[in-house]
Amino acid sequence: MLEANLTELESAARRRIEAAATPEELEAARVEVLGRKGALAGISKGMGRLAPEERARIGKLLNAAKQSLEAALEARQARFDSDALARRLDAEWIDLTLPAPGTRPGSLHPVTRIQEEIEDLFSSFGFVVLDGPEVETEYHNFDALNIPATHPARDAQDTFWLTDGNLLRTHTSPVQVRGMERLGPPLRMIAPGRVFRNEEIDASHEHTFYQIEGMMIDREVSVGHLIYFMKTMLSAVFHRDVTLRLRPGFFPFVEPGFELDIHCLICGGEGCPVCKQSGWVEQLGCGLVHPNVLRMSGIDPEEWNGFAFGLGLTRLAMMRYAIDDIRQLQGGDLRFLMQF
Ligand code: DAH
Repeated sequence: MLEANLTELESAARRRIEAAATPEELEAARVEVLGRKGALAGISKGMGRLAPEERARIGKLLNAAKQSLEAALEARQARFDSDALARRLDAEWIDLTLPAPGTRPGSLHPVTRIQEEIEDLFSSFGFVVLDGPEVETEYHNFDALNIPATHPARDAQDTFWLTDGNLLRTHTSPVQVRGMERLGPPLRMIAPGRVFRNEEIDASHEHTFYQIEGMMIDREVSVGHLIYFMKTMLSAVFHRDVTLRLRPGFFPFVEPGFELDIHCLICGGEGCPVCKQSGWVEQLGCGLVHPNVLRMSGIDPEEWNGFAFGLGLTRLAMMRYAIDDIRQLQGGDLRFLMQF
């Protein structure tokens, strides 16, 4: 009698569990079926009146019923959980194969780009790329370059002097001297780097900017060699065939010395605001290395000669990318830098 009752109760409870449509209904069913006031509890209470062997038998059945109902509750709950997860995934649409937002690959600074292109080009012609110190001796920055003590560049107006008598290099030319001292002739070298001048800062003046220096020392080097390398370099940087012009220019470390211009890339030589209607834009200083400079670095000017050039990398980057304010280049503003 009790046994039949129990079987009936169990299947009713099972239907009740299966019918629960929400986690809340399932919780209500759990209380009803297994709770202290539930149907199974009623049978438990009645057990005291049974004969001992009957009590043991029914007790076993009762436990088995409880366990199987608990398992049914758990299974129903698990279905709710997995349904909820599926709905959440569906709602959030997480595509785990997408790159994570917020990581953005870095890019090269415009000056670095041009520097690396020029390094690659000259390396292909057998030039070594040299580095030199930013804190220089007065000797390497000036004396060894044939710049006399009376030269205006030595003035504190243009040069950051350090209290120990050294200075922040005002150009990359001292690396020529270090190259000659260390490697001797024949020599083909370039030296990109940061230079410093005590300038009032505005849209076209910075106290810190970049240059690249070049030097070739061999036997019978001519202005023709110089022109060839300059034309090749500038055509590569501007991705077109540039037209050059040399004007006499004075730099104490070269003789003859030149200012090198190219046909304005904006107007093609017709005249426009960028070239100030002249049709030409100044690019760099260059010349044949002064015999004094060779001699001071231990190279015999009777046997060797060479050309040298020095070029503003910062200015070159500004021209190529049409950047009109030099302060952008050292400013570190990501909105600017991310464009490159
Ligand atoms: N050092 C010079 C400057 O900063 C540029 C220069 C001119 C470098 C002529 C050279 C050269 O090597 O031959 O203005």
